[in-house]
Amino acid sequence: MKENELILILDFGGQYNQLIARRVRECNVYSEVVPYNISIEKIKEKNPKGIIFTGGPASVYGEDSPKCADGIFDLGIPVLGICYGMQLMTYTLGGNVSRANTREYGTTKVNIDNTSSLFQGFERANDFLMSHTDFVSEVPNGFKNIGSTDHCPNAAMENAEKKLYGIQFHPEVNLSVNGTQVIKNFLFNICGCSGDWQISSFVEDSIKTLKEKIGDKKALCALSGGVDSSVAAVLLHKAIGKNLTCIFVDHGLLRKNEGDEVEEVFKKQFDINLIRVNAKDRFLEKLAGVTDPERKRKIIGEEFIRVFEEEAKKIGTVDFLVQGTIYPDVIESGLGKSSVIKSHHNVGGLPDYVDFKEIVEPLRNLFKDEVRKTGLELGIPENLVFRQPFPGPGLAIRVIGDITEDKLDILKEADSIFREEIANAGLHKSINQYFAVLTNLKSVGVMGDERTYDYTIALRAVETTDFMTGVWSKIPYEILEKVSSRIVNEVKHVNRVVYDITSKPPATIEWE
Ligand code: XMP
Repeated sequence: MKENELILILDFGGQYNQLIARRVRECNVYSEVVPYNISIEKIKEKNPKGIIFTGGPASVYGEDSPKCADGIFDLGIPVLGICYGMQLMTYTLGGNVSRANTREYGTTKVNIDNTSSLFQGFERANDFLMSHTDFVSEVPNGFKNIGSTDHCPNAAMENAEKKLYGIQFHPEVNLSVNGTQVIKNFLFNICGCSGDWQISSFVEDSIKTLKEKIGDKKALCALSGGVDSSVAAVLLHKAIGKNLTCIFVDHGLLRKNEGDEVEEVFKKQFDINLIRVNAKDRFLEKLAGVTDPERKRKIIGEEFIRVFEEEAKKIGTVDFLVQGTIYPDVIESGLGKSSVIKSHHNVGGLPDYVDFKEIVEPLRNLFKDEVRKTGLELGIPENLVFRQPFPGPGLAIRVIGDITEDKLDILKEADSIFREEIANAGLHKSINQYFAVLTNLKSVGVMGDERTYDYTIALRAVETTDFMTGVWSKIPYEILEKVSSRIVNEVKHVNRVVYDITSKPPATIEWE
């Protein structure tokens, strides 16, 4: 990682903060989101090329409004304040912030001074997203106005000499036309970044750092077959080779052939020290007769930890425990609240009873798509790198009601047919999650001249970006028809297939 190319993003609690970090990285400049109250010493230590203040819901005159460290504007480091960030810059440097009668919200024509380095290459009138009530009524001494809207006299300001800039609009969102160019201008014209941060340099630097840090010591990694833990494992393996041991707990609730595929990739392709624990019977025993989804999750989580612990004990003390934590899991909001973390969603959590001295999280600073790029860079097969999300408790929450081996087998076959046909139709890239569910419903059918009384399979497919909300996917009828006919013909004990046409909310993606 090129330390001299760091952009620090001070988080004042705005909803687009991660987006700002992404936009900066898309310009090949490494960025980090840090709490708004980061100390001057810490900033100096990090030695950023520039600082961005995010927006936020507070008003600078509010009692508990978040403020930055004193002296931040005297460091000689360029600062770009966005929305609340601009207001805070104004307030701190002696200008005036006022409250408007009405909130200005939406894409708005902003007239800018295109002789400013921040707006180099722009037309004079631009559509940017405004979203604010407070506004800068008087810019601080030494600043000049470089933008306005019909309702906001100071939509942009600069003190070019001190390299301090403020914008009331949000350049990071797509609604702001050419918004990224404003960020680029800040990075390249004002901060003097060179933009040479790339995933390949991240990979190279990480391997080097991990080598130095771990040396000849031993590391242990829980491998799930998911993208994050896979990429973390391969990265570690490149750094320390056989001193890394991976434990893959196969709970028997994975999709058809998945356990073997994981073993194949990590053992054969990468020659990683992999211990696969076939623990299906243990899990099924514990799950026998259990119908409540949350109980299933709990049992699987606990059993997973137990199995992992038993295996880890056989290895003895290790120096490092590898975790596949990624950036969105660790970003703390500047207002002290942590961002969305799906705590119940990860099997196992942190096995704190394993004997290790330190945790290593090599992907801690990467966004999901950067983790995928890292995976490709490391040579991990595409089907694993672009794997759709798969819940930790696996098929246990896709067999509705109690789980048996027979039911799991039925579901695995049906699910595999569905996935195969989606891939054949080239829909696997546009549908974000798709799978089969074995409902607990049996119904009457007729096959040949025989009456049947068998299971109903439900197909689920959703399009979503964040998995928090989503719409059901409008899969063409011909494909649904083919899937349905293949499932009833090829999978024993299924005589009916239905398609789930509910979005989230009100339904969730998984059925349990
Ligand atoms: P829901 O069903 O809540 O799912 O709409 C949202 C996303 O989370 C995944 N999911 C889980 N992942 N453990 C996980 O690791 C779980 O217990 C779990 N439950 C849901 C789900 O597959 C979807 O991507």
